[in-house]
Amino acid sequence: MTTAPDYTEKIPNNVNLREDRRLRRALESWQPDFLNWWESMGPALPTKDVYLRTAVNVGREGWAHFGHVPMKDYRWGVFLAERDSDRRIAFGQHKGEPAWQKVPGEYRADLQRLLVIQGDTEPASVEQQRNLGATAPSLYDLRNLFQVNVEEGRHLWAMVYLLHAYFGREGREEAGELLHRNSGSEDSPRILGAFNEETPDWLSFFMFTYFTDRDGKYQLGTLKESAFDPLSRTCEFMLKEEAHHMMVGTTGVDRVVGRTAQVMVENDTDDMAALGVIPLPVIQKYLNFHYSVSLDLFGGETSTNVANYYTAGLKGRWMEERRTDDHRLTDDSIMVDTLAGAGNGEQSIGQTEVPALVGLNTDLRREYISDCQSGVNRWNKILAEAGLTQRLKLPHIAFNRRVGAFAGIEASPDGEKLPAGEWERRRGQWLPTDVDKTHVRSLMQPVHERGKIAAWIAPPRNGINGKPFEYDYVHLA
Ligand SMILES: [Fe+2]
Ligand SMILES: [Fe+2]
Repeated sequence: MTTAPDYTEKIPNNVNLREDRRLRRALESWQPDFLNWWESMGPALPTKDVYLRTAVNVGREGWAHFGHVPMKDYRWGVFLAERDSDRRIAFGQHKGEPAWQKVPGEYRADLQRLLVIQGDTEPASVEQQRNLGATAPSLYDLRNLFQVNVEEGRHLWAMVYLLHAYFGREGREEAGELLHRNSGSEDSPRILGAFNEETPDWLSFFMFTYFTDRDGKYQLGTLKESAFDPLSRTCEFMLKEEAHHMMVGTTGVDRVVGRTAQVMVENDTDDMAALGVIPLPVIQKYLNFHYSVSLDLFGGETSTNVANYYTAGLKGRWMEERRTDDHRLTDDSIMVDTLAGAGNGEQSIGQTEVPALVGLNTDLRREYISDCQSGVNRWNKILAEAGLTQRLKLPHIAFNRRVGAFAGIEASPDGEKLPAGEWERRRGQWLPTDVDKTHVRSLMQPVHERGKIAAWIAPPRNGINGKPFEYDYVHLA
């Protein structure tokens, strides 16, 4: 049974914090640090209030309410999806056993590590997006930025709850560290590379929410399968919120591509820079960058750690229960990308067969890549419908990689292995240059007037929660 949260409590929750005084005290002592962090690292633009969705419950009657909220009154809560008391472990050596309600001692360190890595990404993206409010193309977009930010903040709460509730003193220390590492910091950066990159403009924001948040969706999908039931239920709830972040990225890029296509057709030219929109080749370069750094988040093509996590039941596969194999994988194999010797001392981009368990990162990345491709198809449909022949595409998996089989080589977006000099000479054709970034930034003039939108992006087809685009989503301070 879940209890309806009481929004007069300091920390709205459906985990019965009222009864658990020790846990409540731990979270209440972390809360001021969180609020200080939000003040100094969260959205910098001052507002009177923002039309936000707030998670309030679980279950069929709806899980969130919408309303204008002053940021200082926003309440971050702790919510888990409803418990299925018959839930069984779906994979690995414990398959068929009841899901765990406590952390088994032998898996404590590994589970804690998984929580810390997931938890570290949540506040990182808020830090990366801190200054975007100042250049929002519309109040609708500004509102979405705040929505994504408050929910990433809540995802941090979700991981901190688990650390506090199940991992004792070490968990509390890790919860503190999650606020002390910062995106891009010299001394204590965030754990994963993509979360230390800048998000300096709104095209980056949309690409980030499309490609990098989508990595988050896939990671959460594997943790939702976890035998550790509180983690599973936490991730299930987070995935509800994540759907909106995906929507922001997908439709954001739609609207940029759509606007560029429209202006190209109206002016019968592909020289876009002078016309106040983002040229398609620049959109392609941003896509190349965000996709390739997001691929790095999936780790190496093979991993014995991940094999062990799977066998232990800590982390499953995407849509584990829809797979039709034995869910143990001890006798299966998978093809993974690799650099193979070509016989003449050279190395070439190829594939090799490995045991399925050690190839699980590849399995997850493959699911992710086909999902990414669906966005590209959708953007190409926009171009085709405008009557244009140009197309966007995902670069080759070996392009611009810093992790995994291709970290040590340079490859073109077509997957051609390049000598170092050639990469240096040509990278500006494939990745955003300073000139590209400066141009994109020059277009980022804020539009904070109701119903108006910047010239480089089309308005959305729909507003939020049935409201029109013209709605007063944000009242600025
Ligand atoms: Fe998140
Ligand atoms: Fe997200």
